[in-house]
Amino acid sequence: MITIKNHDQLAKMRSAGHLLHDVLCRLREAVVPGITTKALDSYAEELIRKGGAIPSFLNYHGYPASICASLEDEVVHGIPSDQVTIENGMILSIDCGLILDGWQADSAFTAPVGSIDEEKMQLIRVTEECFWKGAYMAQNGHRLGDIGHAVQAHAEAHGYGVVRDLTGHGIGRAMHEDPSIPNYGEAGRGVRIRPGMTLAIEPMIAMGKWPVHQLSDGWTIVTNDHSPCAHYEHTVAVVPDGPPEILTLPGHTWKGAEG
Ligand code: MF3
Ligand code: CO
Repeated sequence: MITIKNHDQLAKMRSAGHLLHDVLCRLREAVVPGITTKALDSYAEELIRKGGAIPSFLNYHGYPASICASLEDEVVHGIPSDQVTIENGMILSIDCGLILDGWQADSAFTAPVGSIDEEKMQLIRVTEECFWKGAYMAQNGHRLGDIGHAVQAHAEAHGYGVVRDLTGHGIGRAMHEDPSIPNYGEAGRGVRIRPGMTLAIEPMIAMGKWPVHQLSDGWTIVTNDHSPCAHYEHTVAVVPDGPPEILTLPGHTWKGAEG
């Protein structure tokens, strides 16, 4: 069931989103060569709790941490570890979620560790562009397929693979609500998008081919061809007119563009 949020509920999701943005900004600054993914996780948990919120990932279906920290060919759900030190030239995806006053926010980004090559830089850039092109389509009267189609068209124009096995999702009181939001699809198909829907849109884009598998830790997803992968996610709210409000990016304006 797709839930429609009212004005007061959206205000609470906005507060959750703004807090998560603050947490992610600080985490981004902490992405430096030599730090462990476990240290980043501890920092995230501390920031979330200081903000009066609860880390939504922690214990989610038994997940053991407050962030996912996915390096290089890891697509998502990398488990933070004191054995994993991030090194110059790598790319690191950090995904984080929190619950404030009963309402969820979910957001992710991929960052360079130190200096990285131009190929990886482009992957990060294009993945963010995929998000913006997809999110722009989340408008009253459009359909879900418009989002996936926009993401897929941009990624494939650069020769990248769109990961099919994981999707974006509705979000609200629960982290994962209906609908599921694939990052591929046909324009004009699928559920009609309506104001008050809150969606986590999250392209996962591989430099190579899209097939992926799960590691024996039961969580980490990696590309089969071991090509690097980037992830970019925001929680957005569909509005009556025009492109959505980005709940996890305070102060954002669309400036009439599509990203
Ligand atoms: N935040 C992820 C998503 O975007 C889910 C994380 S799963 C968890 O859907 F187990 F790590 F919480
Ligand atoms: Co998500």
